[in-house]
Amino acid sequence: MKEPRVMIVCHCAVVTDRDVTEAIDAGADTLAKVCMATSAGRQCGGCIFTLKALLCQHGTTTPSPATTPSAPAWEAVHAARQSPRSGIAQ
Ligand code: FES
Repeated sequence: MKEPRVMIVCHCAVVTDRDVTEAIDAGADTLAKVCMATSAGRQCGGCIFTLKALLCQHGTTTPSPATTPSAPAWEAVHAARQSPRSGIAQ
């Protein structure tokens, strides 16, 4: 049987869609948790929308910065990206 194809969603950290879905299945239910679990989205941020799409496809909602008054996942990711020496997992 042929192996299902995987897609690299984060080229900076070489994280695949399978890595992301495994993190979601293991309980990463926000963008910040997916980023912490996989290391995706912590450098250039070019994969953030793909990560969000994978979260949505797996039935998990990610708070939108425009609609959530408390610290949303995006702010944590953005803050980590702004500070090259600090990561989300600190
Ligand atoms: S492509 Fe994911 S952080 Fe750059």
